[in-house]
Amino acid sequence: MTYIDSILKEKRIFYPSHEFSRKSHIKNMAEYSRLYKKSIESPEKFWAKKAEELDWFKKWDIVLRDDMGFFKWFEGGYLNVSYNCLDRIVKSGKKDKIALIWEPETGESRKFTYGQLLKEVCRFANVLKKFGVKRGHIVEIYLPMIPELMIAMLACARIGAIHSIVFAGFSSDALKDRVQDSKAELLITADGSFRNGKIFPLKENADAALKECSTVKNVIVVKRTGNKINVINGRDNWWHELANEKGIGDFCEPESMHSEDSLFILYTSGTTGKPKGILHTQAGYLLFCYLTFKWIFDIKDNDIHFCTADIGWITGHSYIVYGPLSNGATSVMYEGSPNYPSPDRFWRIIEKHKATIFYTAPTAIRALAKEGNEWPEKCNLDSLRLLGTVGEPINPEAWMWYYKMIGKERCPIVDTWWQTETGGILISPLPGATPLKPGSATRPFFGIIADVLREDGSKADVNEGGYLVIKNPWPGMLRTIWNDPQRYKSSYFERYGVYLTGDSARIDEDGYFWIMGRIDDVIKVAGHRIGSAEVESSLVSHDAVAEAAVVPYPHEVKGQAIYAFVVLNKGVKKSEQLKEELIKHVSEHMSPIAKPDKIQFADDLPKTRSGKIMRRILKAIAERSNDYGNITTLADPNVVNVLASNRV
Ligand code: WT7
Repeated sequence: MTYIDSILKEKRIFYPSHEFSRKSHIKNMAEYSRLYKKSIESPEKFWAKKAEELDWFKKWDIVLRDDMGFFKWFEGGYLNVSYNCLDRIVKSGKKDKIALIWEPETGESRKFTYGQLLKEVCRFANVLKKFGVKRGHIVEIYLPMIPELMIAMLACARIGAIHSIVFAGFSSDALKDRVQDSKAELLITADGSFRNGKIFPLKENADAALKECSTVKNVIVVKRTGNKINVINGRDNWWHELANEKGIGDFCEPESMHSEDSLFILYTSGTTGKPKGILHTQAGYLLFCYLTFKWIFDIKDNDIHFCTADIGWITGHSYIVYGPLSNGATSVMYEGSPNYPSPDRFWRIIEKHKATIFYTAPTAIRALAKEGNEWPEKCNLDSLRLLGTVGEPINPEAWMWYYKMIGKERCPIVDTWWQTETGGILISPLPGATPLKPGSATRPFFGIIADVLREDGSKADVNEGGYLVIKNPWPGMLRTIWNDPQRYKSSYFERYGVYLTGDSARIDEDGYFWIMGRIDDVIKVAGHRIGSAEVESSLVSHDAVAEAAVVPYPHEVKGQAIYAFVVLNKGVKKSEQLKEELIKHVSEHMSPIAKPDKIQFADDLPKTRSGKIMRRILKAIAERSNDYGNITTLADPNVVNVLASNRV
């Protein structure tokens, strides 16, 4: 059964237990509805009241302002994000509470109290200052899931530098594109990262990328794997040598940052080949992470929160670092992959650290469910009280497995819908209140007006699929696209005048949202956001390739996988070996997560008379459907049959 068929048939409802509801922040739907109503009737009042829970150096003058389509929150206010995540928690009496539990792929785990983390962050902030990094400067971070990653982010926030993290699973070209766009002056990386017991050559990738990035003057390298690297004198420095220098102080005064100063850039894929640098600012983003984390994960003082995402994606930014720390919670950070050394790794980590909340992607759930029930059955998962999913739609079968096998029918599941652009969760159950329907992200969070529109902008009927939009601003929303304010307007606001998410969805008779997938050229491979145009240009950069078109096809575990149609240069021979080589090429230049699962060599692609590739048709071919829609506008309709009869 396809995903869409299965969610259309889904009728089951699961209620939170009385015990769970009784102890939760939001206890029932009546409370949700009352507060929701208030939050959208007077959003400024709602958010201002919540903002009082943060520490401000100076209070804001105005809660919200629409500056010609660019939204500003808490203008006139000053605060520091690292101060709110560390000093504020230490001052509240939690100096010795564990902030971070780090679980390496192999070896001993490490724990940092709030007091220790504050000191490490201050020391590294002082190191950055010695390199001349100042407020407003950009620091590129290309690190694996090690404590230094969290420390570096918070150190940037402390001195007002803007961090731009590139997922360590990206390779040199992807890193190069991002550094070139951000124009960073300093890069932090590691000698390598561990993945499935093997070493991924981070420093080598960084060296290759930096050959074409003239803005970067200094590189700080964390020794993680101990493999040999090329050290460039005058540019490369070891983190441990810098951080242990005698002259470096244990305290660093936090910069007083204006609410709308930049906090970080995070690149994500869009419709064109050029990644979008999503900009988030200080106060609104922090407040939104703080409140969504507190209420959606229903956080309590003794919770141990384990989010399996990588900090290189927004999920890690918001729900491993900023959300948990601003709530004074304990966050677990895991370095390796879900099935190393065996498919019970996540369950073992839950057991070992007595995690109470577990937040992961549907792909991981499907992959681990396939490994068999014996893996979770052998582990003690009694500490868990709440589960979450994010990144892609979850099919009801996977939901049920998660609910029964991991949550033992005791733990609510929060299916959280959001995006890099939204900063935090926008549509999700509140675990003590919302009745759950497997496969639905349920209802909008406070202050969020979500809707589904038809092509012409009118409101879709109940259960009619359409474009998912958000009709009002919220504090965690992106502020712009780095270096490209015009693209911010055209990508998100031009079509309907309200925020266009890029997803399709339907709203059922109970007001529940069912997300159906992307409507643009973004492919969600195992929950990772991959731009088809980026993969295409990676393929075309290979000598053998003349043209490439990349589309998604449904994949049992990954949700979607990549199907590439490749036209070779004249005279190049088609072979299985060449397919392997192309896959390796994408892996090494862009990322292993972006490599095509299937490649079909084609002599021609279906194009309109004006030369535009008709992806809709290629998608149908890749999905093994025979419903190509209208093909009469093609320059040569014959191409379709040739491609369909040769599909792989
Ligand atoms: C896209 C955003 C949000 C953090 C991780 C992804 C898809 C996300 C869900 C969900 C169905 C989901 C959407 C969205 N997505 N969460 N719960 N149900 N789809 O951030 O990489 O910016 O991707 O992920 O398609 O647009 P991202």
